[in-house]
Amino acid sequence: MIKKGGTYVVMGLLNTDSIAYAAGKMIESFGGQVIYTVQNERLKKIFFDRGCTDLSQEEKDAMDIRYCDVTVENEVRNLFKDIGEINGVVHSIGFANPKTCLGDKVYTNHFDDIKQGFHISCASLATVAEFAQEHMSKGGSIVTLSFASQLAFPYYNWMGVNKAALEALVRALAREYGREHVRVNAISAGPLATKAAKSIPHFAHLARTWKKISPLPWDVIRDKQEVANAVVFLLGEYSKKITGQTIYVDGGASSVGGELLPHERPIKTMPAKRKAEAKARLARMRALQKNKSG
Ligand SMILES: NC(=O)c1ccc[n+]([C@@H]2O[C@H](COP(=O)([O-])OP(=O)(O)OC[C@H]3O[C@@H](n4cnc5c(N)ncnc54)[C@H](O)[C@@H]3O)[C@@H](O)[C@H]2O)c1
Repeated sequence: MIKKGGTYVVMGLLNTDSIAYAAGKMIESFGGQVIYTVQNERLKKIFFDRGCTDLSQEEKDAMDIRYCDVTVENEVRNLFKDIGEINGVVHSIGFANPKTCLGDKVYTNHFDDIKQGFHISCASLATVAEFAQEHMSKGGSIVTLSFASQLAFPYYNWMGVNKAALEALVRALAREYGREHVRVNAISAGPLATKAAKSIPHFAHLARTWKKISPLPWDVIRDKQEVANAVVFLLGEYSKKITGQTIYVDGGASSVGGELLPHERPIKTMPAKRKAEAKARLARMRALQKNKSG
């Protein structure tokens, strides 16, 4: 689990819908100290003006938020230098110009946009890892966020390419930093309602697709917590020997071929009878354990 009192840098906060926010809150709930990063001063102001209206003043005051544009090497270097010793990093950052990189055609001659998308969404992980690992003298863990790079989804075009490259980069960095006892992994999450997701054209179609292909029920809002749980797992002790991996937290959608048939679709709520049976089973197990220990 998370190291109590340990310091974790969570990069990619935009608002309280961000995966970064869910991950940060989960780390805090396990006793870790979180330093969030936003891209720049303007976005920090936007976060406090519009991005966290659901938070109390006390919660806002308690947040340690710094700036860091991951495409500016000095900002990344200085961020980690200022913070000092850390235990883990969450790289929850991505961007590609939706007009050129996420259109209805894959082809674009806007190569600057392709390069920018690659720099922010993929290459920046190497910059972050390089400057972060210098401050992980007792080892540590770096987690990034990916999306379904093994499949081609409509409109995801160049972001799909970036995510495939990101997962390859995770393997390369895991290989390089293993000697420093620094682990690097990715979580490939199912679709979640965030600002970045909403900039993907027809995100609603993607969310509907998940209802047809995910063996487990998938909730585009609530399952951010499940992704955050997996982040905590990868940051902590229980995943000590896992590195270079992409772990799917997507309801199982990545493992099935084609749409689920009507009789295979997840049951929305567990029927009462099954719930009662599960409860009775649990009570029997507990009684058995009590008898054994008594
Ligand atoms: N939402 C989903 O459906 C989903 C699914 C799987 C993976 N992901 C990935 O999760 C990560 C986080 O996205 P999110 O969905 O929480 O959306 P989000 O919009 O809340 O977060 C994206 C963050 O990237 C930051 N960013 C962009 N350019 C930057 C730069 N140059 N420097 C620093 N930060 C920069 C943005 O400011 C923002 O905070 C992304 O990598 C995204 O691709 C999202």
